[in-house]
Amino acid sequence: MYRQIVVLTGAGISAESGLRTFRDQDGLWEEHLIEDVATPEGYARDPQLVERFYNERWRQLHNGDVEPNLAHVALAKLEQEFEGELLIVTQNIDDLHERAGSRRLLHMHGELSKGRCPRSRQTFLLRDPLGEHHTCTCCIPAQRLRPHVVWFGEMPIGLDRVQHALDTCDLFIAIGTSGSVYPAAGFVDTANHHGAQTVEVNIVPPDNDSQFQYHLQGKASSLVPYLVDRILNDEVISDQYDTEMTA
Ligand code: OAD
Repeated sequence: MYRQIVVLTGAGISAESGLRTFRDQDGLWEEHLIEDVATPEGYARDPQLVERFYNERWRQLHNGDVEPNLAHVALAKLEQEFEGELLIVTQNIDDLHERAGSRRLLHMHGELSKGRCPRSRQTFLLRDPLGEHHTCTCCIPAQRLRPHVVWFGEMPIGLDRVQHALDTCDLFIAIGTSGSVYPAAGFVDTANHHGAQTVEVNIVPPDNDSQFQYHLQGKASSLVPYLVDRILNDEVISDQYDTEMTA
């Protein structure tokens, strides 16, 4: 039924895998100042502090306790079984979508698993937490790698590709994102503008809630598998979901 789907994911999809979100109670931004750890100015002031912040997240991802949850797995199944086009755009820097098997994936805010040359922008896979010993092989003299993370004030990655996908999609789904950080929070407007159906999945209404046609309130790990099965069974999306899921 649908031909082209764009899925936007945020920190909420990884919450049930044990990764902290940013803005919920106990979120990362309660403990850290955005200006200190998520801006180019903060990095210029204190690169060690910024590295420590991202290295903590890197270690957590690699300590063996963190796994994709049923929502990540369901999206990977959608990619395998859906006959149309699918693009998952994630704001997350973790690699849980990949670990679940997703490949048609764009990390618009970067990836924890990589460091980036500040001069050429070439990325390098990190086998251990980022530090002084990580330098690029593309420049002379070699440059010290910075986190491959998009900070506030920097341009997200792959926006042309996202724009094209949004212009042509007939279904847009946003999962576990607060709808407060642009440009991602505005993707639903573009999808609406092009006549797509728009669905959000969240435990509470996101800031851009009113822009969505359908609202699925609850945990991603139970709602996303349900939504994916409906899509794969060619069933029309409707507000009935809410009733069915809460019945
Ligand atoms: P936020 O922390 O702002 O929002 C997480 C959202 O997930 C909230 O709306 C929660 O209600 C929802 N949520 C939490 N647990 C959930 C669950 N189990 N199932 C469904 N929803 C759940 O995270 P993002 O919106 O991803 O950017 O944040 C966007 C960007 O702001 C991040 O990529 C990061 C941050 O600052 C940069 O660092 C550049």
